Amino acid sequence: MRILVTGATGFVGGHLIKRLLDERHEVHVLTRPATDLGIFGNDLDRIVSHRHHGTTKNMIDLVKRAQPDAAIHLASLFLGEHQSENIDDLIQSNVLLSTQLVEAMAVNDIELLINVGTSWQHYEDDDYNPVNLYAATKQAFRSILRYYVEVAALKVITLELFDTFGPNDRRGKLFALLDRIRESGDKLSMSPGDQQIDPVYIDDVSEAFVVALNRLRTGLVRNEEVYSIRSSTPIPLRELVAVYEEVTGSTLNIEWGGRPYRTREVMMPWSRGETLSGWSPKVSIREGIEIITRSNV
Ligand SMILES: NC(=O)c1ccc[n+]([C@@H]2O[C@H](COP(=O)([O-])OP(=O)(O)OC[C@H]3O[C@@H](n4cnc5c(N)ncnc54)[C@H](OP(=O)(O)O)[C@@H]3O)[C@@H](O)[C@H]2O)c1
Repeated sequence: MRILVTGATGFVGGHLIKRLLDERHEVHVLTRPATDLGIFGNDLDRIVSHRHHGTTKNMIDLVKRAQPDAAIHLASLFLGEHQSENIDDLIQSNVLLSTQLVEAMAVNDIELLINVGTSWQHYEDDDYNPVNLYAATKQAFRSILRYYVEVAALKVITLELFDTFGPNDRRGKLFALLDRIRESGDKLSMSPGDQQIDPVYIDDVSEAFVVALNRLRTGLVRNEEVYSIRSSTPIPLRELVAVYEEVTGSTLNIEWGGRPYRTREVMMPWSRGETLSGWSPKVSIREGIEIITRSNV
């Protein structure tokens, strides 16, 4: 298939692009004028890149040029907590860009879309209760998507991702933090650490996209389907750090309870979403940490 991917330079995108190329798909990517394409390394000559300059017309022309069989929409701005000055960027990346993409798909009769949501749309296991404004913008786009599914021939699978982890993660999330204090010996103040987290190894995440893509192309999807991409074996943060210490043979200088839980800390991840038929995670947390540790050597 010819697939247009947004957010291809991100953590998920970087891994998924490789997987799509391995599967012999023709990969087109939507990037911003300032996006550093060097990030694709040797894969750069195997993908077609299209710069999006921000307007709806430009998006319509871009999708017309690319003529994809399907789009995978990963581009997003993640902010755990926003400041007032972030509002424009959050709406621009998570609502406006997304709406421009589906408008352009509708205008150009492109029918197949994989969209991405977050488990954080379900605080306290509610059908909808956003942990933060980022999660609310994800839900806002789902509402907009509903309109396009009704009026255009769009067929959508929304994958709601939980925590993800794996090599080449430049997002500065938990494992990057642990690597840093392991190397420096610095002390890190953390919350009491009883929150359950449900991380899925990045190759399993990529596999979920491939399974969703195959489901879309078989014509089984009538309008929009939503699936949770979770490990189903959540563990408390403290235990996860203990596994990290075991695998890396280190003892980290962590002050548990040195800082309070965040406002609306997720103590128990969303447990009620549907699972994607034909997909289950294969890599355990321990195996994933082992792979990351080996790749860092
Ligand atoms: N990874 C997770 O644990 C997780 C969990 C739940 C949901 N998700 C969702 O999964 C998707 C991928 O996440 P990720 O972790 O890979 O994200 P990421 O590493 O933060 O990357 C974000 C990507 O979005 C692009 N982007 C942001 N704003 C854009 C805009 N206005 N126009 C064009 N491109 C824009 C960035 O491009 P530049 O290179 O130009 O900055 C980058 O490629 C996102 O939708 C995220 O909300 C991820």
